[in-house]
Amino acid sequence: AVPQSLAAAMAGGPCRGLLDYKTAKFALTRNRRVGLLHRLLQLGVLGYLLGWVLLARKGYQDTDRAPRAAVVTKLKGAAAAEVRGAGRRLWDAADYARPPQGGNVLFLVTNFIATAGQAQGTCPESPSVPAGMCTEDADCPMGEPVVHGNGIKTGKCVMFNTTHSTCEIYGWCPVENNTLSRKPLLAEAENFTLFIRNTVHFTKFNFSRCNALQTNDPYYFKSCTYDPSLSPSCPIFRVRDMVEAAGETFGDLALLGGSIGVRIEWDCDLDRPAAQCQPQYSFSLQDRKYNFRTASYYWDSQRRLYRTLLKLYGIRFDISVHGQVLLPLPG
Ligand SMILES: *[C@@H]1O[C@H](CO)[C@@H](O)[C@H](O)[C@H]1NC(C)=O
Ligand SMILES: *[C@@H]1O[C@H](CO)[C@@H](O)[C@H](O)[C@H]1NC(C)=O
Ligand SMILES: *[C@@H]1O[C@H](CO)[C@@H](O)[C@H](O)[C@H]1NC(C)=O
Ligand SMILES: *[C@@H]1O[C@H](CO)[C@@H](O)[C@H](O)[C@H]1NC(C)=O
Repeated sequence: AVPQSLAAAMAGGPCRGLLDYKTAKFALTRNRRVGLLHRLLQLGVLGYLLGWVLLARKGYQDTDRAPRAAVVTKLKGAAAAEVRGAGRRLWDAADYARPPQGGNVLFLVTNFIATAGQAQGTCPESPSVPAGMCTEDADCPMGEPVVHGNGIKTGKCVMFNTTHSTCEIYGWCPVENNTLSRKPLLAEAENFTLFIRNTVHFTKFNFSRCNALQTNDPYYFKSCTYDPSLSPSCPIFRVRDMVEAAGETFGDLALLGGSIGVRIEWDCDLDRPAAQCQPQYSFSLQDRKYNFRTASYYWDSQRRLYRTLLKLYGIRFDISVHGQVLLPLPG
């Protein structure tokens, strides 16, 4: 009885398959479609190896796609701007470039609203702030800040001009007149130049390049302007050319400001001479309308604090560096 139950257990119990013998059985299909598909798959793998890996990518054995980049920028040029009630003033790089030390994000002033002689005190809120409008004193509870406004309500409703009444505020007075000129005040900025010095280092290959020509001629960078075919090693760009390359007109962008993306693309092959490793520049419009406020402070002879408020509109250049270095297969 024992061998019988063992055999039964082996046939249908948990050990089923232990003593089975398996062998692969080939099925030859004389189906043309299946055969063709099979060969096509084989051809595809071979084609990928030969075509893509060896030819299209030239059999590169190694790449470095993460350069370390350093960007130094400098704006040059001068413009005379006529300001309402303040006459003509000359603007040079120290006035229109922010931050002054350059870097990969740089702002160029093209238009502005100047409010001179502001001091802390009380004055009517600007009628351009909806929360500052009023018809009676009860609309201006004392101590309440004006939402999106310029100060804190004093509790009085006063005449702004003969037609408009606004809450009196405590703040920097008089408030800014937000009427913008119809033409950019720094129209000459179209002829300003932006110098971009970019060095890249590919750590994997210890390979470095700079976009500026290595020259001992001190006048080279004082006289050249970038041109993709004539002077690709002169990284000095005219502002108007950059704005136009981004598909905009300078006059439109300069009025309310905007943001231009400058893309520097390195694509170098260690197979070829290092001199052929030149970056490509491309420009794109990232955003329309760009402004911010800044102020400079001074004291009068009575040691009273004043400021000149500037609302600056202009072009923000945002420079990004991308690239790769390819190392070919030996031989
Ligand atoms: C009063 O100021 C408002 C807003 O600036 C303006 O629209 C309006 O024309 C001014 N009225 C007069 C009489 O100047
Ligand atoms: C604001 O400036 C405009 C343009 O110069 C002027 O016409 C207007 O009277 C000014 N408004 C005030 C309240 O000063
Ligand atoms: C910019 O320079 C060009 C020629 O170099 C000149 O025709 C143009 O008037 C200048 N633009 C301004 C706003 O001065
Ligand atoms: C990288 O290259 C420079 C010269 O191009 C050399 O002085 C330096 O020692 C190299 N660094 C490494 C880690 O190989």
